Amino acid sequence: MIAADVARVRPAARLRGTLRLPGDKSISHRALLLAALASGRSRIAGAGDGADVRSTSGIIEALGASVTRVEEDGPTVGYLVVSPGADSLREPVETLDCGNSGTSLRLTSGVLAGLSLTATLDGDDSLRGRPVARIIEPLRLMGAVLHARQSDSLPPLTVTGRTPLTAIDYTTRVPSAQVKSAVLLAGLRADGRTTVRESVATRDHTERMLRARGVPVERDRTGGRGSDETVTWTVQGGIDVQAVDQLVPGDISAAAFWLVAGAAHPDAELVLRDVGVNPTRRAIIDLLRQMGADIDETGAPDDGVGEPLADLVVRSSRLRGIDLTPADVAAAIDEIPVLCLAAAVAEGATTIRGAGELRHKESDRIAGVAAGLTALGAQVDIDGDDLRIEGGARLRGAATDSLEDHRLAMTFAIAGLLAAGETTIDRPASAAISYPGFFEDLERVRA
Ligand code: S3P
Repeated sequence: MIAADVARVRPAARLRGTLRLPGDKSISHRALLLAALASGRSRIAGAGDGADVRSTSGIIEALGASVTRVEEDGPTVGYLVVSPGADSLREPVETLDCGNSGTSLRLTSGVLAGLSLTATLDGDDSLRGRPVARIIEPLRLMGAVLHARQSDSLPPLTVTGRTPLTAIDYTTRVPSAQVKSAVLLAGLRADGRTTVRESVATRDHTERMLRARGVPVERDRTGGRGSDETVTWTVQGGIDVQAVDQLVPGDISAAAFWLVAGAAHPDAELVLRDVGVNPTRRAIIDLLRQMGADIDETGAPDDGVGEPLADLVVRSSRLRGIDLTPADVAAAIDEIPVLCLAAAVAEGATTIRGAGELRHKESDRIAGVAAGLTALGAQVDIDGDDLRIEGGARLRGAATDSLEDHRLAMTFAIAGLLAAGETTIDRPASAAISYPGFFEDLERVRA
């Protein structure tokens, strides 16, 4: 149950039900931004209805696209976007409000870099603590002018774009799909071929969506799997983005909460419909299976252009601890908090190496998840950027704090289904950043 600023969750005797998740947040942001760059009408069905996606929708409206929100069933909405196209987008009068959304901020920066206008991006207190030097560096190399607070490290961020930009060959310093996407989006408006190299393959939604909109994007991979691997993406500048209709799959990062709930609860069977299982996003399924989770998956094969969907069924399982590498962390970056909960109730220890990026999310997720799980009776040790979770915890209800971070709010609520007694979550409304109906679904699955 949610009161104004505290949720109370009691343990569930059984978990049963079929859920549809909100539309994938990463894909929804990209579909909106690409619709703004295309001239004409784009239809986006099944988009996420969370506050972050609304931020991006507001941003493209401020740039001159017309956005009509269409009510759809359940946790998704549709968007009808009519845009004059990249060359006719206008300079916004006001600051562009990214709210809590780092993806809105970083991807929009890449779009703005290639437009002949100046705009400032800002957001809430959490957003003002998110690093922006990582996008300033490549976008400056391309010829855009960018300035940010505190020696160009923190938002607000002002971008003055240039058309055309200079094409670059850039290696990302941290594994980040946001940085990669910002450079590729800027690359659309560059005078040649822009290449981004990453040492760990991050989510490839932007690349797939560009191909689907008529822009050739090449992928290359050198070295073996592991530390010497490089994945290279190249986009050709100067090609118009076509307006298309897109269906957004259910968000696997939202499904992750139910995968952990179902696997960790002793009497559970949950069905999750139409979940996006893109190979660069599905790590949570594979890691949970490695831990012993009983997860069935039924879906069509991936064609490499669209977004593959599957129905997932998760049942009560005997979980055991595993060791996660830094590449696993990058692949499951948004699911690590709830995976830590699975680790806490698994048999044996789980180690997570190279999780430093989690400190730069909507909150410091290493500190936040450790505080909440420790309060619930788990043993979590932090050593620099590494975590060790002992496993075998008998969780007991406790007071936890979401730190206004949606993924922590939902992780602790799922813990509340598993723990003895009552768990409280401070500031639970943050769940609506990515999953507005989360607490209703939590009640629905208690059989
Ligand atoms: C996202 C990329 C990831 C992820 C974020 C969404 C995206 O961020 O954590 O929630 O849509 O590209 P980083 O690129 O900063 O790792």
